[in-house]
Amino acid sequence: MVTTRDLRERAGEEPITMLTAYDAPTAEIVDQVGVDVILVGDSMGNAVLGYDTTLPVTLEEMHSRTAAVARATEEALVVADMPFLSFGIDDAESVENAGRLLKESNADAVKIESGRHTVELTERLTRVGIPVMAHVGLTPQQVNQLGGYARQGTTEDAARDLLELAIAHQQAGAFSIVLEHVPANVAARVTEELSIPTIGIGAGGDCDGQVLVITDVLGIEAESPSFSKQYADLRGEMKRAVEEFKREVESGAFPAEEHSHVEEGLEGLD
Ligand code: KIV
Repeated sequence: MVTTRDLRERAGEEPITMLTAYDAPTAEIVDQVGVDVILVGDSMGNAVLGYDTTLPVTLEEMHSRTAAVARATEEALVVADMPFLSFGIDDAESVENAGRLLKESNADAVKIESGRHTVELTERLTRVGIPVMAHVGLTPQQVNQLGGYARQGTTEDAARDLLELAIAHQQAGAFSIVLEHVPANVAARVTEELSIPTIGIGAGGDCDGQVLVITDVLGIEAESPSFSKQYADLRGEMKRAVEEFKREVESGAFPAEEHSHVEEGLEGLD
């Protein structure tokens, strides 16, 4: 079993791998391959639930998907994302929401899209035994506030703010931190400064680990961000399989004899 302590010890030593998964069969494959961390990201909103952004994802949806992933995972650390507005309004409620993801859906840790307002919450969560993965840089739950999905930390002031925010979350007890869509040199500087592992997405090659969204990796998405990489074309393969099924049903080629069963002794039905 990968633990938060294992990840802390890996910082600067051995690259950490993290992928998202939102269902049991995908989690089983990711786990069996030996990926260290499975993130049940709120990217599920765009990736599998058909929303335009991550904002509509509910805590109930996160519970259902996290429980499915946890049931299929034996080795990887399962991290559940805290959906928009499930934290940051009332601290007691935020702690309860995070705790329920561990107690009821078997997550090992939670991830929180971080800002100044989450430093105290991170401290509070870690104090009661809820491990926190912080997330700075592009935080998609802030898309309306940011005015889009642009790269973050691109000016000296913004880069300094990002570094300070990362340090504040490390001091508050976060066991690792995602750096999303920031310049590679800024991510390298943050990684150098922190003792906890940084996990990058669109943040260059100097982070302690890398994360991608599974539907981008598998090539299921019609469009993927420029910083992700497609390792397969499952969209094409799924389309081919569905077309072939349709063709075979329409032509009568499916089901064939081997897909059917005739029960002997039912001659009375004739
Ligand atoms: O929701 C998600 O999948 C994420 C990753 C992109 C880090 O936050």
